[in-house]
Amino acid sequence: MYYIPFLTQIHRRLAPKAYLEIGVRDGRSLALAKCRAIGIDPAFSIRAELDTDVALFRTSSDEYFARPDPLNATDGQPFELSFIDGLHLFEFALRDFINAERHSSPRGLIVFDDVLPRSVDEAARERHTTGWTGDVYSMLEVLSRYRPDLIVLPIATNPTGLLLVTGLDPDNTTLADNYDAIMAEFRRADPQPVPAELLDRLTVLPPARLLATDLLEMLAGSEAGATAADLSPRLHQLVAASLGSGYASAGRFVAVTE
Ligand SMILES: C[S@@+](CC[C@H](N)C(=O)[O-])C[C@H]1O[C@@H](n2cnc3c(N)ncnc32)[C@H](O)[C@@H]1O
Repeated sequence: MYYIPFLTQIHRRLAPKAYLEIGVRDGRSLALAKCRAIGIDPAFSIRAELDTDVALFRTSSDEYFARPDPLNATDGQPFELSFIDGLHLFEFALRDFINAERHSSPRGLIVFDDVLPRSVDEAARERHTTGWTGDVYSMLEVLSRYRPDLIVLPIATNPTGLLLVTGLDPDNTTLADNYDAIMAEFRRADPQPVPAELLDRLTVLPPARLLATDLLEMLAGSEAGATAADLSPRLHQLVAASLGSGYASAGRFVAVTE
């Protein structure tokens, strides 16, 4: 399944009240939003029809989140769905996640693009291929190691995979507190040591498996005031029951077949 039809179902079933997109380009993925939306990209050139209430910021995600109130454009409504698809370098993806989670609802979902490179060349920090994922794939191991409280689900969409992250805790500062140590360990020189299980996709969720669960309905139906402590155990339980316990913990993979 191509990533756009998969994201279309996420938007429809989650029905978020506020959407964040980092990396807009021509607006193709932003056009899926049907709610108050913020798009951030220093070089967007919109070609898609946007049929929603959207604020576009021609800047980098770092500059945007350095502003005094990043939720000004949503009238304070925290993000319930975020798509991180900006600069495909690990440190940018990590900062984008830290900033998105800090401004998310605990019933929110954050989606990374490009976590499943098809080759070591495609994962290079120094781009030399047409398609390019960069080293965003390292986010899986970082979230697994530093944030076992999260639910982290790599999805085998085409062309280069998505990573769904939920069970969000906007007050959790573990990643920001350990930023320097994470950089020292995970920002690695090319060629990238992409794990074989990501390259072969054999232990990554087929999109249909995720869409067959009630995860999106549980998020959409949870109380507006629910805290991370309320929601996280329920989400882990649902994921373990419907996908297997390997998926209930960040980054632990189990073999699945379509
Ligand atoms: C792969 S494209 C986004 C595609 C779009 N999300 C889609 O699926 O149709 C990546 C975009 O990220 C933007 N970008 C690069 N650096 C960025 C940054 N620091 N902050 C936000 N966006 C950035 C680029 O200008 C480019 O348009």
